Amino acid sequence: MKIDAAVVPIEKAHQSIGKEVTIRGWIYRKRSSGGKAFVVLRDVSGTVQCVVDKAKVGEKEWKAIDDAYLESSAIIKGVPKKDERAPGGVELEVQDLLIVHSGEQFPITEYQSAEFLLDVRHLWLRSQRMVNIMKARSHMFRYARDFLDKNGFFEITPPLITNAGGETGSSMFEVEYFGQKVYLTESSQLYAEAMVPVLEKVYSFAPSFRAEKSRTTKHLTEYWHLEPEAAYFDNKKNMEFQEKFVSNIANTLAKEDPEILKYFEVDPDKLAKIKPPFKRLTYEQALKVLNEKGSKKKWGDDFGVEDERLLTEHEKAPIFVYYWPKEIKPFYMPINPKDERTVLCADMLAPQGHGEIIGGSERIWKLDDLMERLAEVEMAQGVKFDRKKYSWWIDLRKYGSVPHSGFGLGMERVIKWMLNLDHIRDAIPFPRLINRVAP
Ligand code: 4AD
Ligand code: MG
Repeated sequence: MKIDAAVVPIEKAHQSIGKEVTIRGWIYRKRSSGGKAFVVLRDVSGTVQCVVDKAKVGEKEWKAIDDAYLESSAIIKGVPKKDERAPGGVELEVQDLLIVHSGEQFPITEYQSAEFLLDVRHLWLRSQRMVNIMKARSHMFRYARDFLDKNGFFEITPPLITNAGGETGSSMFEVEYFGQKVYLTESSQLYAEAMVPVLEKVYSFAPSFRAEKSRTTKHLTEYWHLEPEAAYFDNKKNMEFQEKFVSNIANTLAKEDPEILKYFEVDPDKLAKIKPPFKRLTYEQALKVLNEKGSKKKWGDDFGVEDERLLTEHEKAPIFVYYWPKEIKPFYMPINPKDERTVLCADMLAPQGHGEIIGGSERIWKLDDLMERLAEVEMAQGVKFDRKKYSWWIDLRKYGSVPHSGFGLGMERVIKWMLNLDHIRDAIPFPRLINRVAP
């Protein structure tokens, strides 16, 4: 057996009953008894049980497979046979094999603690659970991009190092930059706004960084943030676009990846049925619902994990909470002319307590309105707004400014919801959490 032998995916081997095939992968399970080794090999397409008979392979090959560990890499040639007893109903009768790399004893055994599995994340990623999440993640990135592409959006690439920021109100990571204090971006929105007069409908899909000390199941310190921004969208159009977008990702996942969903005990039918329009509650209405459910929240309070759960526990699709009090939303959101206590914005909350997945709004686009709003925010908060640092962004309101809106969607939050994961850390290969920056 040669290392460059022509191979087929394991999935295909399942359909080649009686025909000789060669497959390539990693040893997922192994046991030996009475001169036979039962080896489950995995590749990205699936797994298959291979039976190695000591009497039918060379001495060197037998020793190699007998000495191999879990996760040793191997190339195996044999004939697939139907066998009810084998996992998946097919078993490969091995004729020849090559252990590509035997290596060392794999450190992960059954029943390991969550912390240990995070310590060996680089290896735990090979588990069937993580393989399935990583496949779904990659697919969902593609479904999201495809939808935006079909709707005429251009992907843009913003800088992740900035000298301004702080617009969302969360804390940022400081970076020392040749003697100057700069930040890792918390949102690419301001740069997306600069690209609106360039390409009209744009989105950036990049990491955002949050130095919040929130130790919850839905906070990462580094996450993948998808941020569309579009000329002439108002808040209503923004919300209508968001519900179409999120429905499309859910529906496509249900159609293309039913097996992955079933692995996580998610009924594909439930995601297939998510359709616009989503339920809409003003902040005021949401507050009323919360108070009826026993919450003590009052006007001007932000909602927490428990409030989001109360609002969505019985929902099958996401809901919008719109027109939030201006005091708890950023300076770039315009005052709602119909209720001046509020701003023209909306958050989308995922069903069953998975929490906020989108924050979006109209943007103040006239210079005078912006200056007025900034002065008001300064008065209310008693802090000086650094107009110098934001000068380029303010500039956009001086030259051919147009009404525009946008939103930010946290991809890991969406993955957590759609795969019904307990914790956001599993929605990203190498999670960055308050107490973890490695591996
Ligand atoms: O609501 P946020 O802070 O909004 C903004 O950053 C806007 N500038 C976006 C825009 O309009 N372009 O964040 C948007 C979304 C949230 O709804 C949530 O899904 C996600 O980003 N998010 C997080 N995801 C994981 N971990 C965190 N710590 C997150 N913080 C926000
Ligand atoms: Mg938000």
